[in-house]
Amino acid sequence: MSVNCVIGLQWGDEGKGRIVDYLAQKADMVIRFQGGDNAGHTVVNEKGKFGLHILPSGIFNEDTMNIVGAGTVVNFDRMHSELEEIEKVTGEKIESVFIDERAHIIMPYHMALDGAEEGKRSESEKIGTTKRGIGPCYQDKAARCGIRAADILDEETLRKKLSALLVKKNRELEYYGLPTYTLEELMEKAKGWREEFGNNIIDTNPAVREAVEEGRNILLEGQLGIMRDNDWGIYPYSTSSNPTAAGGCNGAGIPPRAIDRVYGVAKAYSTSVGGGPYMTELFDETADKLRAIGHEFGVTTGRPRRCGWFDAVACDYACWMNGVTDVCLTKIDVLDTFETIKVCTGYMIDGEYYSHLPETRLQERAKPIYSDFEGWMEDTTGCRKWEDLPEKCRTFILELEKLIKTPITLISVGPERDQLIIREK
Ligand code: GDP
Ligand code: IMO
Ligand code: MG
Repeated sequence: MSVNCVIGLQWGDEGKGRIVDYLAQKADMVIRFQGGDNAGHTVVNEKGKFGLHILPSGIFNEDTMNIVGAGTVVNFDRMHSELEEIEKVTGEKIESVFIDERAHIIMPYHMALDGAEEGKRSESEKIGTTKRGIGPCYQDKAARCGIRAADILDEETLRKKLSALLVKKNRELEYYGLPTYTLEELMEKAKGWREEFGNNIIDTNPAVREAVEEGRNILLEGQLGIMRDNDWGIYPYSTSSNPTAAGGCNGAGIPPRAIDRVYGVAKAYSTSVGGGPYMTELFDETADKLRAIGHEFGVTTGRPRRCGWFDAVACDYACWMNGVTDVCLTKIDVLDTFETIKVCTGYMIDGEYYSHLPETRLQERAKPIYSDFEGWMEDTTGCRKWEDLPEKCRTFILELEKLIKTPITLISVGPERDQLIIREK
């Protein structure tokens, strides 16, 4: 019996996609449990290099059932183009993707409103959203007026719901000076979605329950990272869902006690895209070097990622909050040419020492305290066993492990599927 959850321990883009792709080789089921096409999960395998947004990273394995779970928000137009792009490269038809009927649909007005709401924020208040309509779609969900995947299956129900909702949505659009939508144009769109995806919109709960009860291998795939969790991250510079292991139970429909392992993915340094505090951010040539070597540009928006050192305090918090059993430390190779590597071990805030992660407001005033590590100055990209890693690199990893109080069992030294070191506990 094995239910494993993969989540991000930092501000997103930790390398979740490549870890899910690796673990999915043995998975019967992969479930994306929250978020939408704000995700940009890179997978590099024998079929090519792919940037996945709404599709689960298990789609490259023919025998894996891929579920876009109840906790997600789905843009069917984007799903269509993503499937088309991948099928063009691989030459194979993807028929293994199912959408839970409870998932909410991102409508064209959600995207328009996302951009408009962001445009109204002052520079210091900007969240830097992906403008994919994520926040506005979850707003409707919380307000209990959203359109769910099941709704597009029944034309009459959809017409009734949408005609009531559209009055409100058009009023919001008019407030921002944006074009409004007619009921008929949205009904026409929904018809297209129904024709293409209708048979794949199902109640996933019976299949998921059966898989759990029969002890099959299930993988939950999180999007983003806990530092942008809407409750426990840097609110309001957060996403509108819970990218945590607990969010995984909720969004996939799996009881907490069924989870066997939680794989927390973290880079050996850190990056963040969008606004909000980021205590170890660097503004010098070290940041430029990390960005250049690590190719730190957004998969979804192409924006340059903010870069900085590893924050062990934030990562310790992330491991505890998620009940992480295994840390996957990615991009260790990016540090191969750094003579000195820094790790944040505490903060000073208003003259006071903090050894734990405080709330957003205090994070904005926090100054990181660093420990220095000697760089190994050797190429690690060819290492495949723990013993292959340079001694100084192993010391660095062992020290990180102590700071975050969680075993580091997977270490990646490059983006390819096989550039991974599995370390016995
Ligand atoms: P995700 O959103 O968590 O799936 O991560 P992203 O795909 O947005 O960003 C991770 C980037 O790092 C991608 O370009 C990956 O191909 C790349 N990557 C993943 N692991 C490694 C690694 O160990 N070394 C290097 N050099 N690149 C990696
Ligand atoms: P993956 O899954 C990095 C950030 C945005 C913004 C905030 C809210 O590839 O790690 P949203 O569009 O969700 O309302 O934006 O969260 N953000 C991400 N940053 N990686 C992601 O996904 C992200 N998804 C959202 O930049 O600051
Ligand atoms: Mg990403």
